[in-house]
Parts: sequence; structure tokens; C-alpha cells
Amino acid sequence: MARYLELSMDIFRYKKDIRKKIESFKPGTTIGFVPTMGALHKGHLSLIECSVKQDDVTIVSIFVNPAQFNDKNDFKNYPKTLDTDLKVLSNAKCDIVFVPSENEMYDKPDHRIFDFGNLGKVMEGKYRPGHFSGVAKIVTRLFDVINPHKAYFGLKDFQQFAIIKKLTEDLKLPVNIIPCPTVRENDGLAMSSRNSLLSAEERKHAALIYSTLFQAKKDSRKYTVGNIKKNVSNTLNEDPYITVEYFEIVNASNLAPVQSWNEPSVKVGCIAAKVGNVRLIDNINFNS
Ligand code: PAJ
Repeated sequence: MARYLELSMDIFRYKKDIRKKIESFKPGTTIGFVPTMGALHKGHLSLIECSVKQDDVTIVSIFVNPAQFNDKNDFKNYPKTLDTDLKVLSNAKCDIVFVPSENEMYDKPDHRIFDFGNLGKVMEGKYRPGHFSGVAKIVTRLFDVINPHKAYFGLKDFQQFAIIKKLTEDLKLPVNIIPCPTVRENDGLAMSSRNSLLSAEERKHAALIYSTLFQAKKDSRKYTVGNIKKNVSNTLNEDPYITVEYFEIVNASNLAPVQSWNEPSVKVGCIAAKVGNVRLIDNINFNS
């Protein structure tokens, strides 16, 4: 740890050490928690900024969670930039970073089975079997160690947010789950750690994902839900670099597919698409 001495925050690798630190806080100290898988960008930083503003202590975890990857290569290739991440966190006024190893987080086998109902069966649940179970395993384990008052999650991962909210309600966990808006690059591409895996050419084409979603929102009163869905998929699939995995327009509260614009629900269009070999997700709220 010596090389990190110049950073103005505590860095812990072990649960018992971070627990000891947390137990030393004055009673009433509020803890804001931002779980991440590192390779930090401005999207992550926006969550951290919210916590720094709202809470007495901000804790960020960096852990690339093997349990949530259904593709071994995706796990192997996931970007890792720990040294830069720590500098960025220190500048962002983060107080504590938790960087556990796999053995530390999964010291005991975890056979829990989570049931998220429809929320876990559609979209990412269908195309990445086991993914949300892995997310739930790590997030509940991290909550167990940190006991945060608030935990911040990005709406870029819209389905993940819905699932974490349900999970904490079902388990009656004493934590407030705070949604944070999607942060985008200048050309609209949602910031993502995976963007760094795109080639320069792929990166240019990736901007078409959000511009197509944005156009769909503008057109939404002119066309049926079914036609908007077809238009989005066709436009993107015409691009030689892009292959759409799914595009669904769903009711934000239960993720059920929307049939008509007249339904009285908040409607969100959620997309997963491959740009080259890099799988990206994004979404747009048709009501806001
Ligand atoms: P990761 O992809 O590192 O994202 C960490 C948090 O940052 C998530 O809440 C995610 O929604 C948010 N985030 C990512 N890109 C964003 C953007 N462009 N704008 C706003 N927020 C953004 O999501 C995970 O890690 C993992 O599944 C995790 C929850 C840490 C469990 O392992």
C-alpha cells in the first residue's frame, strides 16, 4: 500500500479492517455507498458526487464480480485500471475505497437463489442467464459489510436498478437505493467501462445507438409501439458494426412489454447491442 500513501483516503482489502473503520464512526454518521467494478468514468463519478453531497462518509467498492459474468471472455477482458481509479477517487473526495479479492468476497459458498419475478426474466435476464443472481450475491454481501444508509445506482443499468430496489424491499434491508441519471459522451453514447474496448471506428458507430433511441422518442407519437421497435432495430442493424440483441419498450415499474402508448405507465426503451464484439446497453425514458 506504500505507493498509495499520497492519496487522501483509506483503502481496505479486508472486510474485518473496513468493518473496524466503520465501527469507529461517531453514532449518527451517514454512509453513502457506490458499488463499482472499476475502470471508472464520469458516470461513476456522478454517483460519487451525489454521495459526497448527501452523506457524511462516501465509500466506493471496486470489485470485478466473477459471479455476474456469464461469458468467461467478457470477465477476462473487463478493463482494469486500479491505479488511475484510486487517483480519481481521491480527487473526487471519496473517503474510503474497498478493494477486496475474490477469496475475500466469496470466502463461503453462496447457494442463495434469488427470485426477481418478471424483473429477472426479461431483457438482460433472458440474454445473460445468472447475471442478476450474481449481481444480487455481491451487492447483498457488500451491503452486509458496509451497512450503508444510502446506495447509489445508475439508471444506465435500468433493469439492474429495478432489481436492486426489489431485492432490498423483499429482504427489508435498511438502505435507501438512490437512482442517478445516465451520463453521456458528447455524441450521446452512454459512458461505460466497456467503451474503452471499442476500436476508434467502432466507437464512432456506437454513437448511433443513442441517436436512434433519441429519434425513436421524437417519433413516438407518430408511430405505434410495434413500429418504433422495428424502426430502431432495423436502423441499427443496417450499420455494419452493430447487431441488436434486443430492443424492448417496457413499463418502468414491472418491466412488462408495453403494447400501446395509451397505457398509463412510464415507458422506457431498453436496448442491448453489440458493436463489433463489445456488448453495450442503454435506455431512454419516453415520458421524461
Ligand atoms: P459498474 O458497471 O462498474 O457500474 C457501477 C455503477 O455505475 C452502477 O450503478 C451503474 O449503473 C453506474 N453507471 C455506469 N455507467 C453509468 C453512466 N454512464 N451514467 C450513470 N451511471 C452509470 O453495475 C455494476 O458495476 C455492477 O453490476 C455492480 C453493481 C458494481 C455489482 O457488481
